[in-house]
Amino acid sequence: MHARGIAACLGAAGVLAAAGSAQAAQWADGAEVYQKVCRYCHEANVGPALKGRELPAEYVQRVVRMGNRAMPAFRPSEIDDALLAEVARLINTSATLAKE
Ligand code: HEC
Repeated sequence: MHARGIAACLGAAGVLAAAGSAQAAQWADGAEVYQKVCRYCHEANVGPALKGRELPAEYVQRVVRMGNRAMPAFRPSEIDDALLAEVARLINTSATLAKE
């Protein structure tokens, strides 16, 4: 589990690099950010599942900006405030994953 987490983090460096590159900062909407960034860890047993837990949007936004141990922090240049608010709302109101 531990080793797997590390491998996933190394893989995620690619995700982060993509998010930081000039044209990749243009996500279409919050759903796309979730699909292409958050889901990479949060539906792969690297990070805890986020959906269906009614996590407060404010809390989600804070964790994404501050990071927390293996959870990387994202800057506004990577995910801007409006998109982050959308992602947070989406997570807050999402139903539990069907699978699992
Ligand atoms: C590189 C993998 C990775 C990516 C990408 C990632 N996370 Fe995380 N996230 C984690 C891990 C690991 C944790 C658990 C941190 C801890 O508690 O040690 C976490 C924790 C969280 C938490 C706290 C969950 C809880 O149970 O309290 C939230 C909220 C969160 N992430 C939101 C997001 C959002 C939103 C995105 C997309 C913008 C995202 N994360 C992208 C790895 C990731």
